[in-house]
Amino acid sequence: MNINRRHFLMGLAALGGLGGIFTHQYLAQSSSLKTPIEEKKSTSSQKVVTDNSVSETSQIPPNVRIVLISDLNSQYGSTSYEPEVHQAIALIPELKPDLILCAGDSIAGQKLSLTNSQIKAMWAAFDRDIGEKIRDLGIPYGFTIGNHDGSGGIVKGNLVFKRERKLASEYWNDPQHTPKLNFIDRAQFPFYYSFKEKDIFFLVWDASTNLISQQQLTWAEKSLASDAAQKAKMRVVLGHLPLYAVAVGRNKPGAYLHNATSLQMLLERYGVHTYISGHHHAYYPGKKGQLQLLHAGALGGGPRKLLNSNLPPRKTLTLLDIDLSSTTTVYTTYNMKTKEVISDRSLPQVIVSPNGKIYRRDLT
Ligand SMILES: [Fe+2]
Repeated sequence: MNINRRHFLMGLAALGGLGGIFTHQYLAQSSSLKTPIEEKKSTSSQKVVTDNSVSETSQIPPNVRIVLISDLNSQYGSTSYEPEVHQAIALIPELKPDLILCAGDSIAGQKLSLTNSQIKAMWAAFDRDIGEKIRDLGIPYGFTIGNHDGSGGIVKGNLVFKRERKLASEYWNDPQHTPKLNFIDRAQFPFYYSFKEKDIFFLVWDASTNLISQQQLTWAEKSLASDAAQKAKMRVVLGHLPLYAVAVGRNKPGAYLHNATSLQMLLERYGVHTYISGHHHAYYPGKKGQLQLLHAGALGGGPRKLLNSNLPPRKTLTLLDIDLSSTTTVYTTYNMKTKEVISDRSLPQVIVSPNGKIYRRDLT
């Protein structure tokens, strides 16, 4: 579980085309950065940012590590991925996660003019560059369907991207491609399903549009109320669209979930610890009420600026370290261009979304 930051950076440098970035000076500077795990293992006089505030470190190291990736796709129809995607996938063995999660948009669909063979070629490219590599690691992989994978958009009662959804379902239901997860309910896989890893219950819902159907909500409530969920040490929900907007250009209806307050109340009612989302292409460690809101940044095209911020857009990968004994989480988010850790404290303290304010999680 423990990683050495210098080792991490050197591992990055060893990846194709990156050698020039890592000067001695850079390594000297960066080696002063500590990962939260290193901090957690140090003396109790040190402090770390956990879920809610700065708190005393625990002597017990975190026992579950998740690598979170998101929004991998390039332009419509693309069968290649940008360098940061390849770098992130190549890094995963170094990071030694117990689980890998993807918050959606694995391919570049959502265009009616794309032919079946073009869509299949995109899934083949995903498999070649990402799917197969993750399977070879033998690490469980949970993912959610994004709007570019198979949008659930409905017009006049019809699924607009029915063909893309059928092909996404075919890809993921091919026994060669289905991730090895401890499924609890996979009747509607890959659109909505649940699984358990390391005594954490994960519910994945289809938030590829801003509307979570009543059928799904009924299923989600029943699943979260189940013994499997309630007896787990922690509950996490994964969906593509966030409850609240965090990014410039994504702060209009359609780009975040409809009826967020009631969804939030549903998740809180069943003790969901964290809702993980993508789509906004901007990392933000938020919190609203009792619910942690982890907004994953993009690795593929189009990173975005956060609302209420002049910070530049950045492509990111996030490590999520979970201490199950205290049900606390620590995020370590890397700027995939510079390979530096992004300090959560450099991010806006509050984000004013059209449907509500969310706060940086260390402030509430
Ligand atoms: Fe998206």
